[in-house]
Amino acid sequence: MLTKIAVLVSGGGTNLQALIDAQKSGIIKSGQIVLVVSNVGGAYALERAKNAGIEALTLRNRDLGGQEGFERALQEALEAHSVELIILAGFMSILSGDFTSRWPERIINVHPALIPSFCGKGFYGLKVHEAALSYGVKVTGATVHFVNEVPDGGRIIDQKAVYVKEGDTPEVLQRRVMEEAEWVILPRAAEKVSKEIMEGKA
Ligand code: GAR
Repeated sequence: MLTKIAVLVSGGGTNLQALIDAQKSGIIKSGQIVLVVSNVGGAYALERAKNAGIEALTLRNRDLGGQEGFERALQEALEAHSVELIILAGFMSILSGDFTSRWPERIINVHPALIPSFCGKGFYGLKVHEAALSYGVKVTGATVHFVNEVPDGGRIIDQKAVYVKEGDTPEVLQRRVMEEAEWVILPRAAEKVSKEIMEGKA
């Protein structure tokens, strides 16, 4: 039986799209995305899910009485869909230790830098690339890792380096890191972990 995957998003969803495309092309063959959850209403990622025929749900902290209520509703939705693997793909909120401890090595995240550089609380989205450029690094990249109670602190699954170029803006660098690294290693890691979970059930 294929590993049932939920993808958590907050924005444009290009990493979600990479996962959907990888499922279609057979790069992901041991898992199936059964649910997309956004914590931001109207996120374009929700459209991408609908276009792919995947059930999509919006759960907002403020409608659910804060983080605890959000995580309770999330847990219920995951259980209702028999989810076995959670992928954070541009999910811009930190899950509590209480939640992550219920999903040991069952949550993976893509981070747009080479951990342990430019990571942890406050380093998300464009801010990561702004920090890399202002530090002046010549190489950056992306990391896929398991999620635990330490933000960006779980075991690394895969990384890919990307060169910084003269004159890069945060936006230009962000796009290059996505194209050359994130959209490559996230589907690959999703397949690897899905396969391990699938084989564990066999
Ligand atoms: C991606 O670069 C992802 O790595 C990053 O936000 C972007 C989301 O883009 N995530 C984080 O910074 C999480 N700490 P997307 O919505 O187009 O996939």
